[in-house]
Amino acid sequence: MMENKKLIEVKDLKKYFTVGNNAVLKAVDGLNFFIREGETLGLVGESGCGKSTAGRTIIRLYEATGGEVIFDGMNVHKLDRKQAKDFTKKAQMIFQDPYASLNPRMTVGDIIGEGIDIHNIYSGKERTERIYDLLHTVGLNREHANRFPHEFSGGQRQRIGVARALAIEPQFIVCDEPISALDVSIQAQVVNLLINLQRDYKLTYLFIAHDLSMVKHISDRVGVMYLGTLVELASSAELYKKPMHPYTQALLSAIPIADPEVERSRKRILLEGDVPSPINPPPGCRFKSRCRYATDICSQEMPEFRELEKDHFVACHNV
Ligand SMILES: Nc1ncnc2c1ncn2[C@@H]1O[C@H](COP(=O)(O)OP(=O)(O)O)[C@@H](O)[C@H]1O
Ligand code: SF4
Ligand SMILES: [Mg+2]
Repeated sequence: MMENKKLIEVKDLKKYFTVGNNAVLKAVDGLNFFIREGETLGLVGESGCGKSTAGRTIIRLYEATGGEVIFDGMNVHKLDRKQAKDFTKKAQMIFQDPYASLNPRMTVGDIIGEGIDIHNIYSGKERTERIYDLLHTVGLNREHANRFPHEFSGGQRQRIGVARALAIEPQFIVCDEPISALDVSIQAQVVNLLINLQRDYKLTYLFIAHDLSMVKHISDRVGVMYLGTLVELASSAELYKKPMHPYTQALLSAIPIADPEVERSRKRILLEGDVPSPINPPPGCRFKSRCRYATDICSQEMPEFRELEKDHFVACHNV
């Protein structure tokens, strides 16, 4: 796995929105990471920290304000029309809300077939067979093709969303909180489906979640986001065993551990205060308003995202 080439490289990526009174909202403000082919990178952080915006900008649903995304050697935000259309075939997205993300007036077959039509991949009988295959692949069946989204449960709808993303055989899928809106009892089924599909089709995932416990099982490496930037990035095993950033430590301390021995000796770290606004974010470290270890330098300089141990990156002055 670790020898695989880098499929995606995100370099100092920025996405700003102009909001009321010409204020600038820095939703994503300098992201740096790569994802290897066949790998799952988990991306975690509280609601509003810029995860969805990052995912959307990476696959070019949004133009970038700055920085770049290199996909298989191509600069994603500098493609001509033909290359751009080609890229939409390679990179797909699964959305958080399986209710809002499926057009209620389209049949399941047409929802899944939309990409096939846009890219002229199959027509007629072949198209129908392909849709039946996809339904089967995600654990549904051909009788479902003529029904409408409202006839399905949340878990089934998310399977439809997965089939739609798979239809044009992408290499890379941004899974944007695909299980957050589902009942806990079916979350694992959808995660297992995604894991099996990754193995069968050599997919590369960016898997977004707001909770570290959700990404642990599926991710090879995990990045922790805070207010538009990454504060820590490491292999899953390393991050859970040895979190270095105060924010990661606080997030992890909130997750119960199965081992009672470890659980008893642990301290809960309560996160006090609010996340600052991404409009005019404070200078220096963005976490300082909630950090127990903040010192003078934290208000003055933004900590660099440094590789403190092999493959373990942290943005903090005082680690
Ligand atoms: N289209 C948009 N226009 C203006 N602000 C936006 C837009 N999309 C997201 N934001 C803002 O950007 C920040 C990050 O949002 P988002 O990427 O959705 O975070 P997350 O997915 O981590 O919850 C939030 O402050 C949000 O209000
Ligand atoms: S840089 Fe300072 S404020 Fe930021 S996390 Fe590290 S110690 Fe806390
Ligand atoms: Mg989101």
